[in-house]
Amino acid sequence: MEIGERKWWHDKVVYEIYPKSFCDSNGDGIGDLGGIVTKLDYLAELGADILWICPCFKSPFVDQGYDISDYCLIDPVFGSNEEMELLLVEAGKRGMSVILDLVANHCSTEHRWFQEACLDPEGKYGKYFTIVDAEKETYPNNWRSYFGGPVWSTLPGWPGKKYLHVFHEKQPDLNWENAEVREEIFRIMQWWLDRGVRGFRVDAIMNIKKPNLFLNFAPDREDGLVEMETVIKHAKGIETFLGEMKEKVLDPYDAFTVAEICGEREEDLPVFIGPEGMFSSMFDFRETTIGLSEKGWYDRTAVTADQYRDACFGAQAVFNPHGFQTNAIENHDSPRAADRFLPREAVADAGKKMLAMLHFFMRGIPCIYQGQEIGMENISLQSLTELNDVSALGEYGYAIRAGLTQDEALQVVQRYSRDNARTPMQWSADEKCGFTEGKPWMRINPNHTTINVRCQKDDPDSVLACYKEIIRLRKSPAYHDTLVYGSFIPMYEGEHDLMVYRREGDTRILVAANWSNCARRVDIPACFSKVLMNNLGEFTSEKGEGIILQAYQCVVLEAAND
Ligand code: GLC
Ligand code: CA
Repeated sequence: MEIGERKWWHDKVVYEIYPKSFCDSNGDGIGDLGGIVTKLDYLAELGADILWICPCFKSPFVDQGYDISDYCLIDPVFGSNEEMELLLVEAGKRGMSVILDLVANHCSTEHRWFQEACLDPEGKYGKYFTIVDAEKETYPNNWRSYFGGPVWSTLPGWPGKKYLHVFHEKQPDLNWENAEVREEIFRIMQWWLDRGVRGFRVDAIMNIKKPNLFLNFAPDREDGLVEMETVIKHAKGIETFLGEMKEKVLDPYDAFTVAEICGEREEDLPVFIGPEGMFSSMFDFRETTIGLSEKGWYDRTAVTADQYRDACFGAQAVFNPHGFQTNAIENHDSPRAADRFLPREAVADAGKKMLAMLHFFMRGIPCIYQGQEIGMENISLQSLTELNDVSALGEYGYAIRAGLTQDEALQVVQRYSRDNARTPMQWSADEKCGFTEGKPWMRINPNHTTINVRCQKDDPDSVLACYKEIIRLRKSPAYHDTLVYGSFIPMYEGEHDLMVYRREGDTRILVAANWSNCARRVDIPACFSKVLMNNLGEFTSEKGEGIILQAYQCVVLEAAND
């Protein structure tokens, strides 16, 4: 399966950094760019190629930096523009590129544009946003913001006017229908690309095109509102905006982009990825959205092995004919993968390695979220006051209104809160986990005493060693072409608790996992006799009888060439 010409980013490994929680270099308890620079050798040794840095721009941090008040200024909490330039140079010296988070759907209410709009809603900057006349308690539509409540809030200083925000009220949506807004965003992108940034992770991009503002939909919860995912499906014509971005900015710089796109229509995939696509790649969210409920987090269901496999295979079937998806099982918005996907009993090194192997060898661009490579886990939550995630409070409310006790609601929030991914990176077993010398801005997971980089670094059986080996295999000349460009062939699709697939190119590779707590025999073609990776000590291959996989065992096998 060949998808157009080969691109520089096809065989890269992306590593997502959430700067606030990665490494603190000046003792104020908040991770920063200087901290990232000190960890570049670690990242290069791991095998990361593209570092995606979550928003580090000037921000009041209502949504942890996804509310930007100046797009071309590094927030002082993270350092300075000079430090960003240093990071770009130092990453480059180690063969790594940096991409930034492009938050173009909305800015912050503290952005100059919005401040000006509040002064003069009819003027130039008023047109940068969506502002309508609407009296108190009336709303032009019944759309629910992603963080709960209506998408409309009263424009400060104007009781008869409301502005649109599909996320938090402090994140006003930019009006992409206005050509001047598009030019502003393109200029910002060029500004960073000119400084050596190689591309962007494109935030929440589907939201830039809205359907008719006065369209109401059937409510999906008791609040009478409808979720934005439903609303956005009715928007038409986003490709006009994106086409302009591609032509004016992305193509001339040969930039790498990975878009956060949810709920796309399958027939629209060629619009987003592949030779004519607007972006290099896009995330597939099938795995992370398994068990989701319109009602809220409290109604989500645990993920089963079969659901996980079907989600992955489904994504492969849909994306592979068009281009490269980006495979991620963790990010700063979701709980830790081990807790999310594995049954409690399997949340241990073997299970974590199994997840890693299954996910990395599928077709697509692998993306690791900081701490995933050492198997970091969710953090427990004793009380609501420990919570930091803005979306979690709303979800707690939905759970209580649905009749859950405070304790139960707390457990729901603990399981799904974005805080789980945002605890400080566990560098060592020290009191402050090697993250800071000061008081960490966020709680440190007490399990850092056993799960940390320092203790895994030289341990060949560690989760970290497993990630390094996976990446080494993917890059080794013998397997590179098969693992990057080879076809993907699912096997045993209907089989309970089993995930098996092949990759075929110059070589033939088979990945097989037993996602259950008892050993089982799996019939596989006898030619797959060479063991490339194995997450557990013992492994038995019975001549002509297939293989025996222990509970949560995953093996990567290569076919002999005759
Ligand atoms: C994306 C980000 C998330 C943020 C939201 C609004 O979904 O990943 O963290 O809250 O966009 O910018
Ligand atoms: Ca700091």
